[in-house]
Amino acid sequence: MKIIPRESVTSLNSQKQKINWKYQFQQYGTTFVVATILFVALSVYLFYRRGYYDLYIINKVFANIAAVLFGIVLLIGPGSRLFSFPDRYAQYRKELGIVAFFLALAHGIVSFFFLPSKFSIQQFLGAGWYPFIFGLVATVALVAIFFISNDRAANAIGMEKWWRLQFWGMRIVFALIFLHVFIMKWGGWIKWYKIEGGKDLAHPEWPGAGLLVAWFMVFVVFARLAEFCSPKFGRLAWYLSAVLLPIIYIATFWRGRQFIN
Ligand code: HEM
Repeated sequence: MKIIPRESVTSLNSQKQKINWKYQFQQYGTTFVVATILFVALSVYLFYRRGYYDLYIINKVFANIAAVLFGIVLLIGPGSRLFSFPDRYAQYRKELGIVAFFLALAHGIVSFFFLPSKFSIQQFLGAGWYPFIFGLVATVALVAIFFISNDRAANAIGMEKWWRLQFWGMRIVFALIFLHVFIMKWGGWIKWYKIEGGKDLAHPEWPGAGLLVAWFMVFVVFARLAEFCSPKFGRLAWYLSAVLLPIIYIATFWRGRQFIN
């Protein structure tokens, strides 16, 4: 008999408690608060960076929160295996994933249908189409994961197979989002580090929110790959990232300040 990992038992427990409305309210309430804090923080940041606030910015905010929440979902697993403190957050993974899914879906729909002056259909179908395909495939995979994220589907598929689908599904989705964002934005980020952002920005010396989120995504991939090699590497990756990530953020803002002088 194969052993279902500890994290799936937590998920099984949370599935069992699903019928409890008070519990549901608390779970989604907490997740909603986290998403709202991120929404306000990113909105304020982008408003000051760009000097305006509209659907184009809200779309960026949705995309970036979704990427951060998916990253957190993927970090809670190895985090709780390597340390004890993330244990208590394991119960929120499903809700975090579902809120991130709706934000990603909103981002995909807004990008495709509601911002034709920024992103035309020609752009989606033209030479630079492939980053969008990664985003689209990630969205389709998320829809499939969403529809099996319930008790009935888990029982119908079988707990072990269901858990494996969720496990690999989320990792593949994150890899696709990573490719979607990095292929599309890489050139712009390098340009920003070299010569700052466009002159149309109120604060071109501030890095884009997408760049800050991208560094977090690198940490997620690094932590997951390191833990995959060995728990010792996994732990080392967390310690290293706890030091390196703040240094990278400080260095990035410091780089921006060089453009003012
Ligand atoms: C799982 C689904 C998806 C996630 C999590 C996601 C995430 C992201 C992230 C984090 C960014 C960078 C935002 C920034 O630089 O501030 C981005 C950019 C973008 N994505 Fe997605 N994306 C997804 C699916 C899609 C789909 C399906 C489409 C289009 C059909 C799409 C179109 C775009 C566009 C046009 C941009 C550039 C936005 C801008 O520069 O303002 N994305 N996406």
